[in-house]
Amino acid sequence: MAGRHSPAGRITRGTTGTNRLRRVDRWIARHPALLRAEDPLVVDLGYGASGVTALELHARLARARPDVEVLGLEIDPARVTRATTQLAAVRAGSTTFAPDARVSYALGGFEVPVPAARRPAVIRAMNVLRQYDESEVAGAWRTMASRLAPGGVLVEGTCDEIGRITTWVAVDGDAAPRSLSISLRLAGLERPSIAAERLPKALIHRNVPGERVHAFLAALDAEWERASAVSPFGPVHRWQTALEALQSAGWPLRARSRWRLGELTVPWDAVAPP
Ligand SMILES: C[S@@+](CC[C@H](N)C(=O)[O-])C[C@H]1O[C@@H](n2cnc3c(N)ncnc32)[C@H](O)[C@@H]1O
Repeated sequence: MAGRHSPAGRITRGTTGTNRLRRVDRWIARHPALLRAEDPLVVDLGYGASGVTALELHARLARARPDVEVLGLEIDPARVTRATTQLAAVRAGSTTFAPDARVSYALGGFEVPVPAARRPAVIRAMNVLRQYDESEVAGAWRTMASRLAPGGVLVEGTCDEIGRITTWVAVDGDAAPRSLSISLRLAGLERPSIAAERLPKALIHRNVPGERVHAFLAALDAEWERASAVSPFGPVHRWQTALEALQSAGWPLRARSRWRLGELTVPWDAVAPP
């Protein structure tokens, strides 16, 4: 555990990109942890080499919660300086973001330092644990989740460079993983199991025979293949057909209304390592 003045964790590659977290952001925008929050404080933990994804997160969530506030935390002091300079440009009105966007940046790690004893309703940590060891995941979840407001959620996941493949785990305030979500760009999709390359750290090494997540992705691929017969009606229809079949086969898919987005959510137990 880090001392008071040293953020918990370590500096890793800062790769980020405009718009690449759109799939997970639109999921957070509909989450009760945000919509019902007494204090809609959202932390973007490990925002990377640029502060842009925190600004985008704010813009997307503000449509659902106009009073949302985003605090970007980074363990690399140079990246905090960089984002703070970017924020000055936002305030000056020389970017496409609202000059008065409720966004700030600070130095911090898994201990999630927030001012004045406030507790975040949501912590989004995307592409952060990917560069840690699998054995470090549970501890990082515990440390972050312990900072959440009651009913809050930690959203921890991974995506590809341009956000066409995104997966995330929702973790509750007791550090218990509750669900896995997968969101894919359906146009041109060959196999949904492409998501295996971008699974959250807790699952990425588990896509091997005998593991539940492997069985799930194999079943998803098989239904996607079978649904090729309805391809002329478009990839969304094909995806919905595949998910219907998966559900009929007993996979406990949730959030049917979001299937049209190329998204699916399953309870954690359905894919959890034994
Ligand atoms: C690959 S970047 C991800 C950027 C952004 N979240 C995204 O998905 O586009 C990972 C960032 O997480 C930061 N990081 C790693 N461990 C951290 C920790 N414990 N607390 C805060 N930031 C951390 C790294 O310094 C790096 O800038």
